[in-house]
Amino acid sequence: MSSPSAAMDSVRRIEIIGIGLGSPDHLTGQAVAAMREVDVFLVADKGEVKSELVELRRAVCERYLEPGSYRFVTVADPERGPDAERDRAAYREGVDAWHAARAKAYADVIAALPPETVVGFLVWGDPAFYDSTIRIVDAVATYLPVQRRVYAGLSAVQVLAAEHGIVLNGIGQAIHVTTGRRLASEWRPDLGTVVVMLDGSLHCRELMEREPELVIHWGANLGLPSQQLRSGRLADVIDEITDVRAQVRAEHGWVMDAYALSLPESRDGTHQNRV
Ligand SMILES: C[S@@+](CC[C@H](N)C(=O)[O-])C[C@H]1O[C@@H](n2cnc3c(N)ncnc32)[C@H](O)[C@@H]1O
Repeated sequence: MSSPSAAMDSVRRIEIIGIGLGSPDHLTGQAVAAMREVDVFLVADKGEVKSELVELRRAVCERYLEPGSYRFVTVADPERGPDAERDRAAYREGVDAWHAARAKAYADVIAALPPETVVGFLVWGDPAFYDSTIRIVDAVATYLPVQRRVYAGLSAVQVLAAEHGIVLNGIGQAIHVTTGRRLASEWRPDLGTVVVMLDGSLHCRELMEREPELVIHWGANLGLPSQQLRSGRLADVIDEITDVRAQVRAEHGWVMDAYALSLPESRDGTHQNRV
């Protein structure tokens, strides 16, 4: 039997696995192979509203893994203050404090597991897009020696484009990915297509007067049975999108949506028909 200090010093293997957006069909073969190596999946418990997202992760495991070959351990998510009331500096401070508290909670749980346990994080979408897991695992590594590997998943950015059947960039043009919070201050015609995530307030409304020709491709709960898609000239479809978004949220208790904003082909110098 190893001593407690030897257990603390052992290198912990952590697999950070992108699972796509809840549909078991979104997983890559590489992600499934990595999941089969995992003994314990750590899941942040974000309260009742998000429990459906935890259930979707369980469903993905049930589809691909032998019953009894793994288990889920839920880690209570530390309290996070309301972002909307914060300026940028306070927002960053709040996020840093929240990540630090989360990292400590995970480190405590991992330290209590036998050292040979392979730990997995099932990351929504792709770990490279607006997800803190890699940063948090690196913070866990300040408490325990960790060996980590990352597996790509389908991101909302990709599924949004695929479900609408569009190429995001104009020919040879850029794609800019940003958050709702940053959209109004960042948007310029030469950014190319702008993909917006993390926007609970459809900040694209703020651009309508400045740029009446903007076209939106919007998707909510992409990849799930509750998926909704709308597209068209922003000014023409924004009210409908607002209503549909509210309906999805009312029905499921949560909604996740993303959208792409672009100018018609005559305005961005390409010959691509996006609408
Ligand atoms: C914390 S970020 C996670 C992004 C994720 N890592 C990815 O690769 O898509 C959450 C944001 O991703 C987008 N998102 C995630 N899942 C989505 C879905 N099923 N449908 C539409 N947007 C989604 C939304 O913009 C949401 O606010």
